[in-house]
Amino acid sequence: MEISVKNINLETVKTPCIVAGIYDKRKLSGSAKQLDMHSAGYISKMLKRGDISGAVGDTLMLHDVPGLQAERVLLVGCGKASDLSNLRYREIISSSASALDRAKIKKAVISLADLDSKPLSPAQQIRLATEALLQNSYRFSMMAKDNPAVLDRISLHFADKRAAAVKKAKLALQIGKAIGEGRNTARELGNLPGNICTPTYLAKQASNFGKQYSKLKTTVLNQKDMEKLKMGALLSVSKGSRTPPKLIVMEYNGGKKGDRPYVLVGKGVTFDSGGISLKPGAAMDEMKFDMCGAASVIGTMVSINELKLPINVVAIVPSVENMPDGAASKPGDIVTSMSGQTIEILNTDAEGRLILCDALSYSEKFKPKAVIDVATLTGACVIALGAHPAGLLSNQQKLADQILDAGNESGDRAWQLPLWDDYQDQLKSNFADMANIGGREAGTITAACFLSRFTKKLHWAHLDIAGVAWHGGKQKGASGRPVPLLTQYLMDRCGKHYSL
Ligand code: BES
Ligand code: MN
Ligand code: ZN
Repeated sequence: MEISVKNINLETVKTPCIVAGIYDKRKLSGSAKQLDMHSAGYISKMLKRGDISGAVGDTLMLHDVPGLQAERVLLVGCGKASDLSNLRYREIISSSASALDRAKIKKAVISLADLDSKPLSPAQQIRLATEALLQNSYRFSMMAKDNPAVLDRISLHFADKRAAAVKKAKLALQIGKAIGEGRNTARELGNLPGNICTPTYLAKQASNFGKQYSKLKTTVLNQKDMEKLKMGALLSVSKGSRTPPKLIVMEYNGGKKGDRPYVLVGKGVTFDSGGISLKPGAAMDEMKFDMCGAASVIGTMVSINELKLPINVVAIVPSVENMPDGAASKPGDIVTSMSGQTIEILNTDAEGRLILCDALSYSEKFKPKAVIDVATLTGACVIALGAHPAGLLSNQQKLADQILDAGNESGDRAWQLPLWDDYQDQLKSNFADMANIGGREAGTITAACFLSRFTKKLHWAHLDIAGVAWHGGKQKGASGRPVPLLTQYLMDRCGKHYSL
């Protein structure tokens, strides 16, 4: 899909469709007013008939509006101007895109960057529109033939002619494209099934990005390399699998040489059967999504390479398959992690923390400014927070606040849970330094407590994305979250340049 920002004359433009907003109570947006004027009140006449209320998600397609060169005008409900948030704005754009799709329209002018909103600047509206349009255009590669995207050229109308405003709008477009592309990359990796998207496949994709981008270098450590590093926790998880483990390291050098990097660590379990502590059968297919943390950090690397951010960033992806087998780890097994700490594996289904702990120890060698790990780590997080925010836990409040801010700014939110020492006792083991599970209570927090034992030397935060990484049910599919949050967090570390 091609998206551009242009100053367009709405009266004379020849296009299959112009999209304009209607607020709550049938109030016209700026561009709807303009269209109304050129059509001698046609739009307001249609509104009075009551076919569209102005509620978010409402649409009304008008044909051959007098006085205009456009073939159609699509009116979209925008709700109350004062209630506009980034989440609502996304909804407005995606309901517009669906209406255009239904009408099989290939090209359109969208004039929705003029919504009168305190919380959202026009540039932020351009960015969100771009992101949402790209999100709408995504099709899973193996099914794309059956339902190809029709809509493929969009001009976003931007009327402000001042140089500074135009520059901001262009930057907003660039950010929207970068995040949209990174997010769709993450969705595609997430949606690919476990028989295709193996650790080896993920490593290959990461290597390809390393070849595609000049500032990105990808290195892949194999089983032998990890044995030398004594990653006994990570390796214990893949023992039951026929497909070999990989540790993928992507180094992006956009900053000065020697600048300490930000490190992202993504859980890459390409299928989580639970291992010997086998999961029940219902919805087990969804455990192909257990590499969505990995997908999101790889997707974020795509976004920041597209944006050429002037900082250094390293992505580390421990990737394994968790399977039951004669060679698999058993409940009660004790393994030694790279840190030297021993772990009693009481449940082989608590495997994410076992691969993350060694990856986090490995991250120390980069002397990171901060480390954020991203993982579909606990079912408990879905129970606690549902599908809206990611769970956030951190050993440094400043870092947690920066992540919360990035979530609010990008509309890809997180919610903090306490990482208090009080919970550490739940991980006591009679036979090792710790157990890998902490009982039924506060499962998301005890998982983070486990990880905290490997991040004492780091400024570290953990995002549990079990509730947000994919949608179940009829719309089953990876969401590409939290690529927007992570990209925003990294843009925010580059000074004011990327603020819209
Ligand atoms: N990948 C799962 C977490 C998960 C479960 C995410 C369901 C999304 C939906 C993880 O490896 C796991 O199995 N966690 C266990 C931990 C337990 C054994 C302490 C869980 O949450 O049940
Ligand atoms: Mn598991
Ligand atoms: Zn898992």
